[in-house]
Amino acid sequence: MSTQSAVKVVTTHVLSEMKLKGEKISMLTSYDYSMARIVDQAGIDVILVGDSASNVMAGHETTLPITLDQMIYHAASVVRGVKRALVVVDMPFGSYQGNSKEALNSAIRIMKETAADAIKLEGGEEILESIQRIPVMGHLGLTPQSIHKFGTYAIRAKKEEEAEKLVHDAHLLEEAGCFAIVLEKIPAALAARVAQEVSIPVIGIGAGGGVDGQVLVIHDMLGINQEFSPRFLRRYHNLYAEISGAVGNYIADVKSGDFPNEREQY
Ligand code: KIV
Repeated sequence: MSTQSAVKVVTTHVLSEMKLKGEKISMLTSYDYSMARIVDQAGIDVILVGDSASNVMAGHETTLPITLDQMIYHAASVVRGVKRALVVVDMPFGSYQGNSKEALNSAIRIMKETAADAIKLEGGEEILESIQRIPVMGHLGLTPQSIHKFGTYAIRAKKEEEAEKLVHDAHLLEEAGCFAIVLEKIPAALAARVAQEVSIPVIGIGAGGGVDGQVLVIHDMLGINQEFSPRFLRRYHNLYAEISGAVGNYIADVKSGDFPNEREQY
């Protein structure tokens, strides 16, 4: 029997067993109770309360504006809807970069106030000190919180020097105690190399199929968000069209007096 169907609750230990058995790990974002409930009941392994909430929930251009309090609100809502998946929460920009004490305090707030299972931090060498005392998922490659440092969302680690730093950082994250690493928008061959070299699960987004699992932003894969269409995104639905059609029908029914009918009133 596969690990996925056998487990009642996904833990970090389950994820490392999945890697050992060569079973792929599925991960999606969620930001609220209702969506998290659907995603969990559909059988996802990991739910990420991503700071992409800043974009898809709040309409900001970048992930930078979302606050620790706002992430805690989203994460607590998600946790209430989840019974099986491992819930990981992004630490927002400004809540951990200062020093490891600040990072630890922010992480403790997230874990205490939301009951989530783990947190995710962007960066390599520079965040090592913060990793040791909490369950951390690392994030390398395109790290959206550093957008103003790089100035572009283009593919990362194409040049050898950057690729070698990424591999080095992945090893450092593993040694420091990360239970998994997200690799975002890097060449597939490099991501596959990292997944082979480290013993912790490597989850990719725009990092090819040679890694241990995949993550997408739920608004993107459901087609709620029409503007964002990078090459790595597979759209599983056109929810924008579905919702827009349903809202259009509702408006027409209200205007024509068709809604509510006799069975829909008291
Ligand atoms: O914030 C987020 O949704 C993420 C994923 C893109 C991995 O970090």
